[in-house]
Amino acid sequence: MSDTDDFPRRAFLKGSLALAAGALLPTTAWASTMNPTPRRPVIIDTDPGQDDAIAILFALGASDRLDVRALTAVAGNVPLDLTERNARIIRDWAGRTTTLPVYAGCPRPLVRELVTAANVHGKTGLEGVTLHEPLAPLAPGHAVNYLIETLRAAAPHSVTICSLGPLTNLATALTEAPDIRDHLSEIVLMGGAFFERGNITPAAEFNVYVDPQAAQIVFSSGVPIVVLPRDVAVKAPITPARIAPFRTLGTRCGTVVADIMTAEVAYQKGRHGVEEAPMYDPTATGYLIDPTLFKGRQVNVEIETTGEWTLGETVVDWTGHSGRAPNALWINEVDADGFYAALRANIANLP
Ligand code: RIB
Ligand code: CA
Repeated sequence: MSDTDDFPRRAFLKGSLALAAGALLPTTAWASTMNPTPRRPVIIDTDPGQDDAIAILFALGASDRLDVRALTAVAGNVPLDLTERNARIIRDWAGRTTTLPVYAGCPRPLVRELVTAANVHGKTGLEGVTLHEPLAPLAPGHAVNYLIETLRAAAPHSVTICSLGPLTNLATALTEAPDIRDHLSEIVLMGGAFFERGNITPAAEFNVYVDPQAAQIVFSSGVPIVVLPRDVAVKAPITPARIAPFRTLGTRCGTVVADIMTAEVAYQKGRHGVEEAPMYDPTATGYLIDPTLFKGRQVNVEIETTGEWTLGETVVDWTGHSGRAPNALWINEVDADGFYAALRANIANLP
C-alpha cells in the first residue's frame, strides 16, 4: 500500500491529533479542523497526452480539495488504446493504482475521422518520460456507461466533469441520458480559442477541432461551463525557469512533471524557435483547485461545425452583440506565478 493509498487513514490520524490538540487552538482554527471545506467530487475526462498527465497529477495532489472519482479516457492526442494506457500509468505515478478507476471511452469522434496530435505528444502520447507497464487493468465497462450510471446515482448538481480532451465521451453520455445534466455541478474544460488563434488550424483549437459536434452538444446542454481556452494557456507559459523548481522536488512526480515540461518546451523551440510552451490542461484542474487565480466573462459560445476553413472554431460573443444567451464562463486572465506556485505545492504532495 503506497503512502498515497493510505491517504484517508493518514488524514484521519492527522485530524484526530489536531482534535486532541483542539483545546490549544483558537476557536476558528479548531472549527476549520472540525468542518473542513468539503472535497469536490470530480471525474476527469482525458486524452493523455503530456499536459493531461500534469493536469491529472495536479488534481491528485490536491486531494484535500478534490475527490477525483475516476479517469475516463477518450481518443484524442493519440488513439484510445494509448490514452487509456497512459491514464493507468499516470495513476501509478501518483500512487493511486488501486484507488482510482480508469475507464476506456469513445475510440473516435461522433462524426469526423479521428485526428491525433502524436506529432506533438510523441508516438506514445507521453514523449519525454520513461513509461512502465501499467500496474493494473482498466475498470470494466465503457466510460460512457460509467458516466451515466455514476451521475444518475449522484446527488443533484453534485459532480464536476473536468474535460481535458475532445468532448466525445461527455457528449455521448448527454445524448444517451440527458437527465444526467441534473446531477452535474459544472463542466470545467480545456478547449477553444478566441483572442488567440487556433493551434491546429488558424481558426480552431485541437480538442474542439477533433470533435466539433461533441462540443456543440456540450455547449448547448445547459450545464454550467467554465472554459480554459488557448487565450489563458498562452498567458502562463512553461519556461526553463518555471521547470527548475519541479526538478528540485526530487520526487517521482516532480521529476515526471519536469521531464514532460522540458519535452514540451523542446518541441516548441524546435517548431517555432521559442523556448516556452503554452500551459494547456493544467489550467483546467488549476481552476478547480483555486479559481481565484483566474478571471473571465460570462459569454455566449457557439461551435462552428460546418465551416470549410473554420471547422471547430469557438465563436465567442465577447461584447454581447448577438443577443444570444451566455452559456459559458470564458477565462482569459491568470495569475501565472500563483498558478505555478499552486502546481508545485500540489505536485509536492505526491510520491
Ligand atoms: O489544444 C490543447 C489541447 O489539445 C490539450 O488538451 C492537449 O492535451 C490536446 O488534447
Ligand atoms: Ca488533453
